[in-house]
Amino acid sequence: MEDGGPRIRRRVSVRKRNRGSIESLCVAPAPAELRPSEDLEDEGAAGRRRRKTGSPEPAQENDSEEDMFNDYDSFTENSFLAQVEDLEQKYTQLPEHRELVTDSAIKGLCSESMENKLPVFAVNSSTDPETNQHIKNQSAADGPTGPEPDSDLLFDVPSSQILYFERIQNSSNDLGDQSAKERDRNSHKSPNEEPAFSHQELPQPNDDLSEARASSETSRRKSIADHLKSAMAGNATAQTPVFSRSKHLKETLLSEEISVARKAMESPSDDLGPFYSLPSKVRDLYAQLKGIKKLYDWQHTCLTLSSVQKRKNLIYSLPTSGGKTLVAEILMLQELLCRQKDVLMILPYVAIVQEKIASLSSFGVELGFFVEEYAGSKGKFPPTKRREKRSLYIATIEKGHSLVNALIETGRISSLGLVVVDELHMIGEGSRGAILEMTLAKVLYTSKTTQIIGMSATLNNVQDLQEFLKAEYYTSQFRPVELKEYLKVNDTIYEVDSGAENGMTFSRLLNYKYSDALKKMDPDHLVALVTEVIPNYSCLVFCPSKKNCENVAEMLCKFLSKDFLNHREKEKSEVIKNLRDMGNGKVCPVLKRTVPFGVAYHHSGLTSDERKLLEEAYSTGVLCLLTCTSTLAAGVNLPARRVILRAPYVAREFLRRNQYKQMIGRAGRAGIDTVGESILLLQEKDKQQVLELINGPLENCYSHLVEELTRGIQTLFLSLISLKIATSLGDLYQFMNGTFFGVQQKILLKEKSLWEITVESLSYLTEKGLLQRDSCGALEEAQCCFHITKLGHASFKGAIDLAYCDILYRDLKKGLEGLVLESLLHLVYLTTPYDLAAQSEPDWMVYFRQFSQLSPAEQNVAALLGVSESFIGKKASGQAIRKKVDKNIVNRLYLSFVLYSLLKETNVWSVSEKFNMPRGHVQSLLTGAASFSSSVLHFCEELEEFWVYRALLVELTKKLTYCVKAELIPLMEVTGVLEGRAKQLYSAGYKTIMHLANANPDVLVRTIEHLSRRQAKQIVSSAKMLLHEKAQTLQEEAEELLKLPADLPGLGASDTEKV
Ligand SMILES: Nc1ncnc2c1ncn2[C@@H]1O[C@H](COP(=O)(O)OP(=O)(O)OP(=O)(O)O)[C@@H](O)[C@H]1O
Ligand SMILES: [Mg+2]
Repeated sequence: MEDGGPRIRRRVSVRKRNRGSIESLCVAPAPAELRPSEDLEDEGAAGRRRRKTGSPEPAQENDSEEDMFNDYDSFTENSFLAQVEDLEQKYTQLPEHRELVTDSAIKGLCSESMENKLPVFAVNSSTDPETNQHIKNQSAADGPTGPEPDSDLLFDVPSSQILYFERIQNSSNDLGDQSAKERDRNSHKSPNEEPAFSHQELPQPNDDLSEARASSETSRRKSIADHLKSAMAGNATAQTPVFSRSKHLKETLLSEEISVARKAMESPSDDLGPFYSLPSKVRDLYAQLKGIKKLYDWQHTCLTLSSVQKRKNLIYSLPTSGGKTLVAEILMLQELLCRQKDVLMILPYVAIVQEKIASLSSFGVELGFFVEEYAGSKGKFPPTKRREKRSLYIATIEKGHSLVNALIETGRISSLGLVVVDELHMIGEGSRGAILEMTLAKVLYTSKTTQIIGMSATLNNVQDLQEFLKAEYYTSQFRPVELKEYLKVNDTIYEVDSGAENGMTFSRLLNYKYSDALKKMDPDHLVALVTEVIPNYSCLVFCPSKKNCENVAEMLCKFLSKDFLNHREKEKSEVIKNLRDMGNGKVCPVLKRTVPFGVAYHHSGLTSDERKLLEEAYSTGVLCLLTCTSTLAAGVNLPARRVILRAPYVAREFLRRNQYKQMIGRAGRAGIDTVGESILLLQEKDKQQVLELINGPLENCYSHLVEELTRGIQTLFLSLISLKIATSLGDLYQFMNGTFFGVQQKILLKEKSLWEITVESLSYLTEKGLLQRDSCGALEEAQCCFHITKLGHASFKGAIDLAYCDILYRDLKKGLEGLVLESLLHLVYLTTPYDLAAQSEPDWMVYFRQFSQLSPAEQNVAALLGVSESFIGKKASGQAIRKKVDKNIVNRLYLSFVLYSLLKETNVWSVSEKFNMPRGHVQSLLTGAASFSSSVLHFCEELEEFWVYRALLVELTKKLTYCVKAELIPLMEVTGVLEGRAKQLYSAGYKTIMHLANANPDVLVRTIEHLSRRQAKQIVSSAKMLLHEKAQTLQEEAEELLKLPADLPGLGASDTEKV
């Protein structure tokens, strides 16, 4: 990247001079790794043994989708460390070289003097004749065909690593001789070069000396601990002895680079070091993984704003595809690597969280931080406390809120250095907006050191948000790829033109020869519009409803030329085959007809496996057209050359400008397309309204905190009191003043004061038995405190919608009187989400059929709930019913029949057929039930009387979460592995996370059907990340167990020292 140019050039010259020594570095072990060869052997053998016997951890979570974009080559091919690894592998594959490594290892270990080890790392040419001789012999023996060190390697060594080699040499050559150190360091500089990191000089001599001694002592102690750790971690931390060495080398190099970067950041100078206060390796990774070689000007400006440097809160807004993510990612990496704080990134949907996990796992693996998923039912509360590495939590809005609650509860909120919110405008959208608002308000209130950054493409009333977040604002109109907006009315296409009188200018007339039949079937000329771009370019057609998506896809295929069938024919038939495999032999008839033309529909009626497959096929160009609903615009990142909006409606509602902007924003994405265009089809009658929409301002976003009563302000108060963030009326009022609602209160609810709203909500919670007011005595009203009741605490812990918490309590209580455990039905009923039941309408014939097939015990469940066969029978035959039956219970029981069948059959397709319910809906019911089941579990954990449910619900939650054969569960823990893929991997012999983490992506591509190289790499790096995370957690647990308790009776201070 361009910034820091002179420094980069200077470093290249340093690299050239030091070339030879790096070669020796690459073939010799690192000092820290030097140990007897048996150790290495043992560890490898132990690792292998563990691999064989290791049983997978019980899985907990499910449901994922893969990253669809960032289709660039992985770091494993290009990075410096990967090359070191390759080279090392090449050498160690040869038996002679194994000897060389172990010889020098033993020698290094036995040697008293550091000098013997140093030449291995020295930047100047190696002084170890034996090592050099080995290298020479090696080359000679290999002859022309033997592996040679990569001669270009040197040019890829990041500058800070050169610095590191220098420092290693300096500190080791003579621990006390600072002047020698200085000399040595300066000897690498040309006369007119400035020191590379002049602002981060090494410590003063004396400090340095003691520090060096202390650090040598610490490292001696640490090495014992490390040894213990690595023995415990076994296979989890070391694949083979070879990998173990390079892993260690990697970590040491990087940590040194980071410490250099950290010092750069702490220094008062404006120098941002090699790459925005980050190690140069980050810059290299962006180039290698994402193909980003230079920051856009605005990105540079934004990152160097003085407010950003001072870590002030920030909101920034740019058009879609403006490159907002990169700025946030750089700031996140600064926080993780240089400030050593955890980071929370909040994204709107599960699919996007998973996309981000897949794309950032490689950064985590390379740079040494954890990437943790908090979406769907994944995520640990409170998060595991990490001692050595920091965590990047990537979360949905709901999970982000729970995470912040858990951090506050455990007194760890200040460990969170940064919260990033993508699509900040979502703060104005319903109950999810209210949750986002609560999360941010809590962070603002409880942690003054946590920085908040929000970004969006569609913000209007930024001042309100700025006031709420106390944030600076940055905006620009930059869009790397021009987006041309068109409107189509009848046969005419107009270009949107803000300069024109009515906001549009004539562009062209459509002149297609349509047959009468075609005209009738396609009055909007969709066939003509799409064939202008497909099959060579991609096209998205947004439709108002799901059914319309399917109809449009079918209609288009009826009229597309047969030539379309030939385009990537083989790959399309693979897609069909894959769809059939996923459906256990069944393919959706619509897709069966449209996919051969390169066309598919995309909406929530598809299973997540199908969606993912179609997205992948679209992003690789096998499919060229998707008909989709508006959710795709805000969901996964699927770009297009042309975006067509079939009508200015979403369902029956007129399109909003924010939605319009999001949808057209899919066209012309940077790095994928060079141009982009959107066409909105409209009828004459809608013209005026559309022109207002196109030319008007973006909609304002407004707080939903108070509007969403039970899922807004009431939930907020319950949690504030439970977490003891604010317990008195005065403090709660104060808190409300600091919310987004507080800022907008005068616009939103003129008739009531904030004080009245606060008092009202508290009274409601008290009446409901969730709060209790302490006796105030002579205190002023504002000082009156509240405390949470057991029911209130359980509802808070279970994140239960307060509208349902008392019904849930009653249902569970009643269940205690006669829980039927002969089948799972009764338990499933208790964890079927109330809100879904309220929205559903049973198919009474199906209901009756299913009812009559119940076993006597299951019929007993229905009887206990008050639902009789005769009632269902009457409903099915359309007879009038006089007896009053609770509709909510009847509907809920129907949904539990669906879930119960799913648990028995583990086949979404057959259940979907049996219940005449779209397969996507069956799947979302399952996801909802899994999540509610875990909520009910947390609810029960807080209430003594429900102890009996706890063990039962742990198991049930697991069953609902995966709902697959048990053997697939470990594989599905890996982000991006869904059921279909898990089945393939399992039958190919990849049965555990360890298998996946150690898999070779090339082999995976060869052995697993329909798996692209990019997907294979992402699966491997996500598995590596997960494995690493698990291993680290175990290590830390083990260390915790082995620690001497500080309060051990009879243990004096001197004893502690001895231990
Ligand atoms: N400096 C850059 N050089 C080249 N490509 C870039 C650069 N910055 C970002 N990109 C690429 O541009 C594309 C769009 O970026 P990004 O997803 O950050 O957009 P966005 O502003 O978040 O848009 P949206 O509002 O639609 O989410 C991505 O593929 C990203 O890799
Ligand atoms: Mg974005």
